[in-house]
Amino acid sequence: MVIETERLLLRPFLEGDAADVFEYLKEPMVNCFACMKLGSLEEARAEMKNRIGETEYYFAIVLKETGKVIGEIDAYPEHAEPHDQEEDSPLDTFSPCWMLNKTYHGEGYAYEAAHAFFDYLFREKGARRIYAYTEDYNISSQRLCEKLGMRREGLFMEFVSFVNNPDGTPRYENTYQYAILKKEWH
Ligand SMILES: CC(C)(COP(=O)(O)OP(=O)(O)OC[C@H]1O[C@@H](n2cnc3c(N)ncnc32)[C@H](O)[C@@H]1OP(=O)(O)O)[C@@H](O)C(=O)NCCC(=O)NCCS
Repeated sequence: MVIETERLLLRPFLEGDAADVFEYLKEPMVNCFACMKLGSLEEARAEMKNRIGETEYYFAIVLKETGKVIGEIDAYPEHAEPHDQEEDSPLDTFSPCWMLNKTYHGEGYAYEAAHAFFDYLFREKGARRIYAYTEDYNISSQRLCEKLGMRREGLFMEFVSFVNNPDGTPRYENTYQYAILKKEWH
């Protein structure tokens, strides 16, 4: 699957994307992506091999003009609540992750990519509800959610820990939840 916007292509990852991906994943900008950190170009090449075959829900964000991979966006179908009735509940809920190489921040690329991705999930992948978690200090991601028309649904205090404090205890972060329903998407 390839999604095209005015300036971007959202397409599956290729083996040749390793150097571009390494550029932004050698130092992930936020704690929630700390576990995705790549230590070397070799690791990036192995990671690209893992991503091959991901054709529906995991996309490289590519600048049409140059062919450079400037970031990524993904979301997988999740069961609607209640999860304890998983067998009956439809897979109509998605929670996107988005990340851009910092050289390309502030140009509207994240919005352009996320808008096209949401449209794809709502129109072609049966999404009923798309929700996003973002830490309380992550203003860029909150602004992106708001620009996409997502409602701020709540603030979960000390909700999750991605990294430890210097003394080894978990560092808990405060997390906003945003969401938008298909019937709210225009
Ligand atoms: C989140 C991220 C993808 C947003 O990228 P971006 O390049 O800033 O996004 P856009 O240029 O499309 O901007 C979207 C909107 O947010 C606004 N915005 C972005 N950063 C902002 C900031 N720090 N302060 C205020 N507004 C900001 C933009 O101005 C724009 O709104 P506008 O058109 O009304 O002006 C990018 O910051 C990123 O990759 N961050 C690291 C990874 C990350 O945090 N992922 C999310 C984890 S929850």
